[in-house]
Amino acid sequence: MKISFTLNSNATKVDVPPKTTLLKILRNEMGLTGTKAGCEIGSCGACTVIINGEKKKSCIFPADKLEGCDVTTIEGVSAPDNKPNDLQESFLEHGATQCGYCLPGMIMAGEVLLAKNATPSRPEIKEAIADNLCRCIGYIQIVDAIEATAEKRAKGKGAA
Ligand code: FES
Ligand code: FES
Repeated sequence: MKISFTLNSNATKVDVPPKTTLLKILRNEMGLTGTKAGCEIGSCGACTVIINGEKKKSCIFPADKLEGCDVTTIEGVSAPDNKPNDLQESFLEHGATQCGYCLPGMIMAGEVLLAKNATPSRPEIKEAIADNLCRCIGYIQIVDAIEATAEKRAKGKGAA
């Protein structure tokens, strides 16, 4: 079945086998391995992408429901020169990274939050990443990184 959708701002058409998830399409068919496979049952958030402005777990999103959707993956949020954007830089600056496996999903959850709420409180940031598990680092650094990015963007210093 051919599905047409927008992927990281590019019109995309892909042949979708039956009962395939978006995660499998991204990683296996499109070579976009930035989106991570973790639990693959919708529990860890490692596979989080943005669909029509909302965070979605791609491991449980049926690929045959993609028709007409606007999908953004971690590959689509980098700065124009392919360098890390301001939120990604902030994770580095605040020590909010170790193995990095959770980070693409965390970044996507953070981007959705900041798109909807430019000045989130710390409890709002915690709620936004509550579905995203990290087994390496304290969540404090992650909240710090998102909060600092919100402040920079509010001052017009963001590089998203
Ligand atoms: S891999 Fe999708 S939620 Fe864990
Ligand atoms: S940095 Fe390793 S799981 Fe989060």
